[in-house]
Amino acid sequence: MSSARSLLAIDQGTTSSRALIFDDAGRPMGQAQQELPQHFPQSGWVEHDVEDIWRDTVGVVKGALSNARVAATDIAALGITNQRETTVIWDRKTGEAVHKAIVWQDRRSAPLCDRLKKDGHEPMVQARTGLLIDSYFSATKIAWLLENVEGLRARAERGELAFGTIDCFLLWRLTGGKVHATDATNAARTMLFDIHRQAWDEDLLELFGVPASLLPEVYDSNAEFGATDANLFGAPIPILGIAGDQQAATVGQACFDAGMMKSTYGTGCFALMNTGENALTSANRLLTTVAYRIDGKTTYALEGSIFVAGAAVQWLRDGLKIISSAAETEGLAKSADATQAIYVVPAFTGLGAPYWDADARGAVFGLTRATGPAEIARATLEAVCYQTRDLLKAMEADGASGLETLRVDGGMVANNWMLQMLADILGVAVERPVVAETTALGAASLAGLKSGVFKGPEGIAETWQSTGRFEPRMSGDERESRYAGWLDAVRRVRS
Ligand code: G3P
Repeated sequence: MSSARSLLAIDQGTTSSRALIFDDAGRPMGQAQQELPQHFPQSGWVEHDVEDIWRDTVGVVKGALSNARVAATDIAALGITNQRETTVIWDRKTGEAVHKAIVWQDRRSAPLCDRLKKDGHEPMVQARTGLLIDSYFSATKIAWLLENVEGLRARAERGELAFGTIDCFLLWRLTGGKVHATDATNAARTMLFDIHRQAWDEDLLELFGVPASLLPEVYDSNAEFGATDANLFGAPIPILGIAGDQQAATVGQACFDAGMMKSTYGTGCFALMNTGENALTSANRLLTTVAYRIDGKTTYALEGSIFVAGAAVQWLRDGLKIISSAAETEGLAKSADATQAIYVVPAFTGLGAPYWDADARGAVFGLTRATGPAEIARATLEAVCYQTRDLLKAMEADGASGLETLRVDGGMVANNWMLQMLADILGVAVERPVVAETTALGAASLAGLKSGVFKGPEGIAETWQSTGRFEPRMSGDERESRYAGWLDAVRRVRS
C-alpha cells in the first residue's frame, strides 16, 4: 500500500478538537485530541474562543501525524467535520474573529425566535430550510452579533466580514485565508439555505437581516475545497471533504440507502434517517436536513435529537453518586429486579424531539421500598431506549420507510445491555461498528471519495464492519406495555 493513500480527518466538536488518520480501508492509524474550554458569560449563553479552536486543531493534526508515523506528503486528502450551527464572524483582511463563536447550545437569540414564530414566519422557514425556528441554528446568532457588536452591521454591509460555521472558519484558516466555503450539510443548518434549491435564500436573508456578502460558497460534501497552507504541516494537504458531525457519522456508518438510520449516543443523542432524494417535511417536529451532497446529488435525512442520553448516566455518577463510572451501569442493569416498573424521565433541560417541551422537567415514577440503585440505573438506560423509539415512531409517522437495522455509535454503545434493550424496545436489530469513530471516519471517507481512495459510496460501504448485532428478543406484548408505561410517564412530566 502506498502511504499516500492515508486519509486525515479533523473532528472539531463541542467539547474537544481531534484529528485521526485512517488507512485506505478505513482503519484508524493514529490520533490526537485536545479538550476545548467552554465559556458561559451569562446563563444560557455558551461561547468558544476560536483561537483555542485554531491552535488546538493545528496541534492535534501535528499530533496525529506523529502518532501515526506519517508525514503530510503521505496524506491523500483531508476531511473536516464539525460541531454544527456554531457561528463565527471574522474580518476578511486580518482573519480575526470579531467575537467569540456563539455555540449551537446558546439560547441568547430565543426572544428573537419567539417573535418570529409569533409573527407567523415558521411555516415558510420550515418549508425552505427543513428547520423549525430556534436559537439552535445560526441565523439568529448572526442577527444577534450584527445587532449587538458595535459597528458590525456597517462593516458587514461594506463586505469586510465573513460568516462561517466551524468547518468554514477552519477552511479559511487552513488555506491561509484563500477559501471562504462550506458544504451543503453545514449550510443546511444555518436556517438561511433553501435545501430544495440548494442555494442561499434571499427572503430568509432579509427576514434575519443578514447581508449576502457575509456568506460562503456552498460546495458538495466531497469537493475540492483547496489545500492546507504548506507552512502548517510541512507540505500542502488537499482538503476534499466537509460535513457536519452528525451527517459525517451517517456517512461513516455507511447509511447510504433510504430507510437506513444511525443514532449517536453522546451527551445527547442525534438520530438521522436517510430518506433518499425525498426531503420529507415533518409533521412531528423533526428536522429535515441534508444527509450529504455527493457529486452534485443531494440526499436528505430526517433528524431527531434527544437532549439527555449519556448525560443521564453522568447524573447517576455525579448527581446521585450511585455509580463511580459509566461502565458500572451495565452490571447494575443486569442485576436489577426487572419486575419493578420504574420509569426515569431525564427531562433535565426539557424534552427534545418530538415533544420540544422546554418547560418539562425530570421525574422518577414507580418507586417502592424495594427500589435501589440497580433499578434506577436500569430505568435510566431504558429511558434512552424509549426516547429512541419516540424518534423512530415520529420518523415513521412522517413517512420514513420501516427500519430494519439501527446502526449505533458514541460512548454509550460500549454497553451491551443497553443495546439489547434498545433492540427489544424498538423491535428492530441494532448494530455497532468495528470503527467507533464514525464521525471522523465519515469525514475521511468523503475526502477519500474525492481523492479516489474509495470508489463511490459502495466503496465506503464495503469497509463497514459490525462488531455486535443485537436482535430483538422481547415479546411484542411486553414491548408495547413497557412503552405505554413510558408514554404515560412523559405525559405526567408535561404541564
Ligand atoms: O448540532 C450540534 C452537533 O453537531 C454537536 O455535536 O458531538 O459536537 O456535541 P457534538
